[in-house]
Amino acid sequence: MIIAIDGPAAAGKGTLAKRLATHFDLAFLDTGRLYRAVGYGILQAGGDPNDPKIAVAAARALDPANVDTGDLYTEKVAEAASVVAAIGDVRKELLSFQRNFAHNPPGGKIGAVLDGRDIASVVCPDATHKLFVTASAEVRAKRRFKELQENGVESTYAAVLADIEQRDQRDRTRKVSPLKAVDAHVIDTSGKTPDAVFQEALDLIEGDRST
Ligand code: C5P
Repeated sequence: MIIAIDGPAAAGKGTLAKRLATHFDLAFLDTGRLYRAVGYGILQAGGDPNDPKIAVAAARALDPANVDTGDLYTEKVAEAASVVAAIGDVRKELLSFQRNFAHNPPGGKIGAVLDGRDIASVVCPDATHKLFVTASAEVRAKRRFKELQENGVESTYAAVLADIEQRDQRDRTRKVSPLKAVDAHVIDTSGKTPDAVFQEALDLIEGDRST
């Protein structure tokens, strides 16, 4: 069983993916962490994420099974991640790890949930279930802003909205593996609780199974 979850930033993919993984006892991979780790490594070394040579070398040097270092969840790292993610050779470097995780999940699990931008379209076109999780940019920015406030990070709603819109625009319009809903059930999480979103996803998965 492979569940592919794609969608724009802060739409609620991660929350849903973790709950589905627990419910079906599947392995879980947040593929955004891989791109974030590449961007983070470059920033730490004082490099420029826009330089394809530097970006590809950083992706090649990454051990995708061990990306648990550093603070990957800042807006700076998110921005660097989306810059390196637009470079085709960076994506190539990270592809086989993701595919292998899906088809040979760790821990003896019977399947995997992967969340990202190109899971249904590129990483696992053969996924058993494909979900595209989205919400309006305003709703997503409000959520992200609240999260930052709760973590004591100084920011403004307007700045968060601008960051999210810029990152979405880059992810949607890049030439390689752009973010798009491919042959997937679309779940709009605007105004819905995590419980309601989880139930909607379960119903869609059950529906797939009965057809
Ligand atoms: O999902 P997250 O916000 O952590 O992803 C950070 C960035 O990594 C995204 O904005 C996107 O550019 C890139 N990404 C991607 N493909 C994926 C996962 C993430 O291009 N499968």
